[in-house]
Amino acid sequence: MIAPSVLAADFANLQRDIEMINHSPADWFHIDIMDGVFVPNISFGISVVEAVNRYAAKPLDVHLMIVQPERYLEAFRKAGAQVLTVHYEACPHLHRTIQQIKDLGAKAGVALNPHTPVSVLEDIIANLDLVLIMSVNPGFGGQKFIENTYKKVQQVATLIAQLGSQAIIEIDGGVDMSNAAQLHAAGAGVLVAGSAVFNSPSPTQTIANFKKIG
Ligand code: DX5
Ligand code: ZN
Repeated sequence: MIAPSVLAADFANLQRDIEMINHSPADWFHIDIMDGVFVPNISFGISVVEAVNRYAAKPLDVHLMIVQPERYLEAFRKAGAQVLTVHYEACPHLHRTIQQIKDLGAKAGVALNPHTPVSVLEDIIANLDLVLIMSVNPGFGGQKFIENTYKKVQQVATLIAQLGSQAIIEIDGGVDMSNAAQLHAAGAGVLVAGSAVFNSPSPTQTIANFKKIG
């Protein structure tokens, strides 16, 4: 699957870019929420997700790069999120937070920063619908892909098989046509792409090219 990241869209022409994604073979809308505390950048909040949801014809995959995400889960769910991903590093009571997401009727994901080992997921992965491996340090689009990601994807795939988890693996940051095939081969099921899609001459064609992989 391919999830174009709305962070790289033209915010002054958001409806146009949403409709481009609707008419492309993309699978999800990836929506980055940044609070200026967990990450050194601020993106947008609940009302923008609500606005995107008015036009989006595909699931909203909401990536919460915020502290205390449990305070806002219900609001993002009401705004239209179908997948809610929280950061391992932001959740001291992760098991409870995952349960909250499921009780809201959304798919539950956990994101790991580049320095966080995959092994921390051992006791939670059976409860997850999605594991998001950050392949850049979260906060900004257009950063360079971290090569250590391939190894982590393989480790997550092994853990999923060993523990009978249903989770799919999503990769976020610096994804482009030069690493997509290798990520897919390592076990990635969803690729997030921001600048690779929106900075290309034909975003629709770029999405179609990603979809041809695998
Ligand atoms: C980074 C965000 C990403 C970002 C990816 O903190 O989580 O989703 O939009 O952008 P690119 O694909 O440009 O690295
Ligand atoms: Zn993201």
